[in-house]
Amino acid sequence: MNALVLGEHEFGYSEEDFEQVRTRLYRRAGISLATSKRQMVYSRLARRLRQLNLPSFASYLAFLDQHPEEWQPFINALTTNITAFFRERHHFDQLVSLARESQRRGRPLRFWSAASSTGEEPYSMAIALHQALGEQARQVQIIASDIDTGVLATAGNGVYPLERIAQLEPALKRRYFQRGTGSNAGLARVVPELRQMVEFRRINLLDADWRMAGGLDAIFCRNVMIYFDKPTQVRLLERMVRLLRPDGLFFAGHSESFVQANHLVKLVSRTVYQPVQGATP
Ligand SMILES: C[S@@+](CC[C@H](N)C(=O)[O-])C[C@H]1O[C@@H](n2cnc3c(N)ncnc32)[C@H](O)[C@@H]1O
Repeated sequence: MNALVLGEHEFGYSEEDFEQVRTRLYRRAGISLATSKRQMVYSRLARRLRQLNLPSFASYLAFLDQHPEEWQPFINALTTNITAFFRERHHFDQLVSLARESQRRGRPLRFWSAASSTGEEPYSMAIALHQALGEQARQVQIIASDIDTGVLATAGNGVYPLERIAQLEPALKRRYFQRGTGSNAGLARVVPELRQMVEFRRINLLDADWRMAGGLDAIFCRNVMIYFDKPTQVRLLERMVRLLRPDGLFFAGHSESFVQANHLVKLVSRTVYQPVQGATP
């Protein structure tokens, strides 16, 4: 019996329910939620319980077990999607140097943004590459993926509140965003030229097969590994490194470090890694 109810809540929510949510999220998405996230789990899932007209977390968990289609809303509710245009600017400067070098060698350019959230990261890549390569950027392919179908829908639309682009240089805003008018006032849409450079897909990084061709120039895998435990991080890094060109780059988040995985990668600049010899096919 779920005796311990955590605080005054609209829905029944026990310590055991919280543990069950954590276990399910870890198994499905690899996300390790800290035990301090009890209240966060409650507030993120309460809306879903209300929509489904369920009285308690125990009944929601039973519903989840009986309805496989509920997994996606469950995951969408529990992921953390914080992102921004040109987050860690230095990464985009490095991306441009790499692209110029590959272009000089006449190679087609392919990139993967592996936890793209609402799209700011892959569109920033597209802007940086378009600025650097001009019309040639049409041939660039950026694959952007996430486990969360809600953020992927936003990313595909490429429509953002003006506050999201407020920090960008005015010339860049004029060139790469269309300002909404009438009922779209206060919004800006990424221009079609950039949208055609980016292909959005749903990929759970825990999936055994990502259906991703190798020979990538760079992988942006930023601020997602922090949600995974160390063994999962190393397993994923090993698979990603195999998808890179030998001189390709792996971009990590500002608080993520892979210096321990020195059999796979070496640090080449701030949170940027290159495969060690023999780590790529
Ligand atoms: C904090 S955002 C990072 C966004 C962007 N990369 C950045 O650094 O600004 C983390 C993203 O990882 C995604 N994510 C979490 N677990 C995942 C998994 N197992 N497979 C793919 N994406 C996942 C979440 O849905 C979320 O959008």
